[in-house]
Amino acid sequence: MKTITLNNGIKMPLLGLGTFKMAGEECAHSVRMAIETGYRMIDTAEGYRNEEQVGQGIAESGVDRKELFIVTKVNFRSFENAREAVLSSLKKLRTDYLDLVLLHWPFGNYYAAWRELEKLHAEGVLRAIGVSNFEPDRLIDLVSFNKVVPAVNQIETHLFCQRQVERKWMEKYNVSPMAYAPLGQARRSEMFTLPEVTALAKKYGRTPAQILLHFLIQLGIIVIPKSVHEERIKENFNVFGFELTETEMETLRALDTATPMVGTPAKPEKVEMFMR
Ligand SMILES: NC(=O)c1ccc[n+]([C@@H]2O[C@H](COP(=O)([O-])OP(=O)(O)OC[C@H]3O[C@@H](n4cnc5c(N)ncnc54)[C@H](OP(=O)(O)O)[C@@H]3O)[C@@H](O)[C@H]2O)c1
Repeated sequence: MKTITLNNGIKMPLLGLGTFKMAGEECAHSVRMAIETGYRMIDTAEGYRNEEQVGQGIAESGVDRKELFIVTKVNFRSFENAREAVLSSLKKLRTDYLDLVLLHWPFGNYYAAWRELEKLHAEGVLRAIGVSNFEPDRLIDLVSFNKVVPAVNQIETHLFCQRQVERKWMEKYNVSPMAYAPLGQARRSEMFTLPEVTALAKKYGRTPAQILLHFLIQLGIIVIPKSVHEERIKENFNVFGFELTETEMETLRALDTATPMVGTPAKPEKVEMFMR
């Protein structure tokens, strides 16, 4: 598995399993299947209400905890009590440390939450801490008034929303980009059928999904595709062993519309929706 070295020196797999909307036995089973396939990083969140099932899947896989990289997120409604939220996540995930914990959205008292994550990081409970859905303005603000620079920023990133501008800012501050919705969620069929994508799939003997995931990885972006289907979990894992040429990368770069589907905190209506 290819890894990326985060700004605090720890290594993180460039590919992991997303678990948004996974629930119950299906969630535990998918996590176990992914680990058996070779995945070593799992992404969950307090807000997904599936940390217990993710923990169950990890336990059932029988793989040594030290081999895994577990990521979870603190919900903004818990920001006043971030320590409690992290301790609860640890219990549900059946572990005594986490590899990476993120602030899920830059809403509410995220300064209080960040400083608690900084303490848990200093205590060795969290190997790395980071943020999610932070646009450059929020990121610069957080970095400017705190001790620890976020190791990653998990933000919606895919073919149609490549975050070319945002990634320049992340690079400047040494924050690694992590793509959520790397397959474009509901827009995936649109992407899978683009002639630019199908031509590359044919050339490299891969599926469109594999081309799209590989494209992001080749840009140095961490990806966490979600699937509950064994064949897709395997397909999404088999994205290494080939390189796109610079011209091919440029062709895919040109398909960017810089328009997120979910991650638009700048839109007041979206923010109101989150507050409900
Ligand atoms: N930080 C945040 O605010 C935030 C927001 C959203 C997501 N996330 C994280 O990012 C992860 C990934 O994002 P996402 O789940 O929203 O979207 P995604 O991974 O881009 O797409 C998932 C969808 O694609 C389908 N799929 C997966 N592999 C496929 C393949 N090879 N061919 C065809 N369809 C395929 C899945 O269906 P099946 O499951 O039925 O196979 C599912 O419906 C989440 O699971 C979560 O961990 C974070």
